[in-house]
Amino acid sequence: MLDHGSRNQSDDLSYPVYHIAPPSGWMNDPNGLCQMNGIYHFYFQYAPESAEGGLKYWGHYQSADLIHWTFTGPALSPDSIYDRDGVYSGSALVEQGKIYLYYTGNVKEEGHHDYISSGRGANTVLVETADGLVMGEKQCLMTNADYPEDLTCHVRDPKVFRDGQEYYMVQGARTKADQGEVLLFVSEDKVHWRYHSRIRTAKPFGYMWECPDLFPLGGRTILSVSPQGLEQEEYKYQNRYQSGYYIVSGDYREEREYELSSFREWDMGFDFYAPQTFEDERGRRILVGWAGMADCEEEYDNHITVERGWQHMLTLPRELVLKNNVVCQRPVEEIRRLRQKEQKIEQEEGRAEFYCSTAAEILMEELDGAHLTLQIGSGLTLSYEKDRKIFSMEFTDGTGSGRKQRKAEIERLDTLNLFLDRSVIEVFLNDGACVFTSRFYPETEELKIIIQGGSGRFTKWDLF
Ligand code: FRU
Repeated sequence: MLDHGSRNQSDDLSYPVYHIAPPSGWMNDPNGLCQMNGIYHFYFQYAPESAEGGLKYWGHYQSADLIHWTFTGPALSPDSIYDRDGVYSGSALVEQGKIYLYYTGNVKEEGHHDYISSGRGANTVLVETADGLVMGEKQCLMTNADYPEDLTCHVRDPKVFRDGQEYYMVQGARTKADQGEVLLFVSEDKVHWRYHSRIRTAKPFGYMWECPDLFPLGGRTILSVSPQGLEQEEYKYQNRYQSGYYIVSGDYREEREYELSSFREWDMGFDFYAPQTFEDERGRRILVGWAGMADCEEEYDNHITVERGWQHMLTLPRELVLKNNVVCQRPVEEIRRLRQKEQKIEQEEGRAEFYCSTAAEILMEELDGAHLTLQIGSGLTLSYEKDRKIFSMEFTDGTGSGRKQRKAEIERLDTLNLFLDRSVIEVFLNDGACVFTSRFYPETEELKIIIQGGSGRFTKWDLF
């Protein structure tokens, strides 16, 4: 439920009903996610002038309940010497009735540069706000001279948190040897920061790590990063860029005293990148991702919405829960308040056929069948093959706008919970242990759904 004050959504069959999208223009990463005095603030990378991207601002949505959102306009503009070429990604720290926003001010120098080893300034900037809307003065806290010498100019996306008496900041970086890593900074007062150490894998894993996040969950420490430059595999790293997490053992503050688990991707769909988490006032750890992907246009795109003047969305807010060393992502329970017109779906001879609104939820519980296939509209098939233990999302016609197939290995399938919202689908398998997020373009008011195989309890709701 988005309130833009301006947009007439009814004539655009791809504009979401309950996902966050820009009123017009381009959206990418979620930024500065937080809750203060009951109000949720979701900032995001925003290029208001063009649906195809451009100079980055921070846009802002706010909500009292995580389901009704109001767009308030651009919150931070690239209007200072520190950020004249883009207000890049960053995070929020809430303390004593104030929000402290930390972000990367992008500066591109004129001349002949590759903008990797020269020509790019990555300033760490702080802005304070008491209401999320009216911003104080921009303060430049660090420049490239404050980062280690073996790095390229690519250092960005500060995520700040408090631990005891100290404040920590993680930033993503690319070394001159093209290794992605996380830099850790420390401060006693939120303003003066010093470089402390770095967190990285023993062997290089991608050339750049964007949008790092470090947070406690279920008694463990989770490090989330968005690496670029991984080799594609059949069931892994299938997109242009990836996002995933490590479970950190030991003390991440000391260079030789921590270990990273294997890397697990947050989402196996076509459109997911640069997620950020925050802890809300109820103590929930909530993750929001960008339901989009950069630099994939040769393979797939969103030209239908670009022609209508907007591009990209954020995912549903997902509550994180650690179960058997896997971080499960559950759509926050508030989403259930949107449920209307509950319908039990009966199967006959292993088959069910029904029509569904394009803003809907389907929940399949107690699944137990060799093969399960869900056909959604004319060209999207979700299937699970029990023998091969493979779940796949496949587009067989143009509704995927170039998207073809994504696959994941899944030991067994117990639950499937899917959310449709006009041109986005989010599929949560096994209580969110594995998720597939994708854009698609059925361009109809209703979708025909055919379920074959699998037995269990199936329920459907419209979401409004
Ligand atoms: C990730 C990212 C960030 C950067 C921002 C710029 O998608 O490249 O690293 O801060 O987008 O829009």
